[in-house]
Amino acid sequence: MKSILVTGGAGFIGSHLVRLLVNKYPDYKIINMDVLTYAGNLANLKDIEDKENYEFVKCDICDFEKVQKIFLDYKIESVIHLAAESHVDRSIKDPFSFAQTNVMGTLSLLQAAKFAWEGNYEGKLFYHVSTDEVYGSLGEEGFFLETTAYDPHSPYSASKASSDHFVRSFQDTFGLPTVISNCSNNYGSYQFPEKLIPLFINNICNNKALPVYGKGLNVRDWLYVEDHARAIDVIFHEGKVGDTYNIGGFNEWTNIDLIKVMIKTVDRLLGREEGESEKLITYVTDRAGHDLRYAIDSTKLKEELGWEPSLQFEEGIEETVKWYLENKEWMENITSGEYEKYYAEMYKS
Ligand code: NAD
Ligand code: DAU
Repeated sequence: MKSILVTGGAGFIGSHLVRLLVNKYPDYKIINMDVLTYAGNLANLKDIEDKENYEFVKCDICDFEKVQKIFLDYKIESVIHLAAESHVDRSIKDPFSFAQTNVMGTLSLLQAAKFAWEGNYEGKLFYHVSTDEVYGSLGEEGFFLETTAYDPHSPYSASKASSDHFVRSFQDTFGLPTVISNCSNNYGSYQFPEKLIPLFINNICNNKALPVYGKGLNVRDWLYVEDHARAIDVIFHEGKVGDTYNIGGFNEWTNIDLIKVMIKTVDRLLGREEGESEKLITYVTDRAGHDLRYAIDSTKLKEELGWEPSLQFEEGIEETVKWYLENKEWMENITSGEYEKYYAEMYKS
């Protein structure tokens, strides 16, 4: 049985990836290593937690000795690394934890992989999941390519850029087999409600203010999270070692237009008059250093590995809104803080 370590598997994207791998590959053993920060929630994996080829291990990726032991105990053959501090606003308030987890944590995993695999890199892979934010900000034209120079602006993107560089340095210096993907904004079920889409869906439902940063004219390229998980699966199995792949939806929206689509959808599904909740829109002070526009060109991934997004955005956002409306308990457990108490008790370290 091939042992694959997925880090950050209790988070938003990680939980979708773990579900895909556990269901699709019964011959793989998927080890989900996660320390369960505020963003890690094992309720995201309820439907697969009893599967024989799945195991959860509570561990901080920065705890090098423990990480090393896990590599040896589980005979880890490949890593798909997603664990990170992921929210830009938090990185503005507390950059230290971003450097610690995203940079030092990645380094700790790289070292552990190198020690465990050195001398026999055959069939091994360290897959690092990164973001389009490392490329900086675009003007009105153009796209990020895999060759675009790094130009991070927020402490979050600076920490992710640094981790990308460390991954490449291990490939170049030690021959560690690595691959990196840089993806655009994800949306879908199980996303922590600090991020724009789940936060706003929840606020619309509860008639709370919708805090739009600046003029709402920043542009993001949105990709359905299950399409991201599929892309990771394809790159993991068929990507070229040492290479980088951009993943995106060719699906750009200004924040304000996207917010109006969410309002329309939630209002309709709740039987309110369509657009009634636009009165909740509240323009607030802009995010410091707010990148204007991200847009990914994922042509390489399509041409070399045949991946394309499967869902039209209208379909994806409808599915997403419905999921949050039908899973109020999941949301309430988070907003009340109940889930953190539950898992703290269950996994005392
Ligand atoms: P998330 O915040 O939802 O989940 C992060 C997970 O990592 C959580 O389960 C958390 O408990 C875990 N974690 C944090 N620190 C840890 C540590 N020290 N040790 C072990 N586990 C730890 O994040 P997400 O949105 O699912 O993002 C996952 C990855 O994908 C990140 O690397 C992020 O940079 C990248 N990414 C995210 C997006 C997006 O739109 N969300 C887009 C592109 C790339
Ligand atoms: O591009 C990929 C990145 O996408 C990932 O690397 C990050 O982990 C992920 O968090 C996301 O970053 P963003 O900063 O783009 O996502 P967020 O949901 O925080 O914000 C999306 C846009 O909405 C952004 O322009 C800021 C704006 N916004 C956000 C919030 C939370 C608001 O106007 N109001 C808000 O309350």
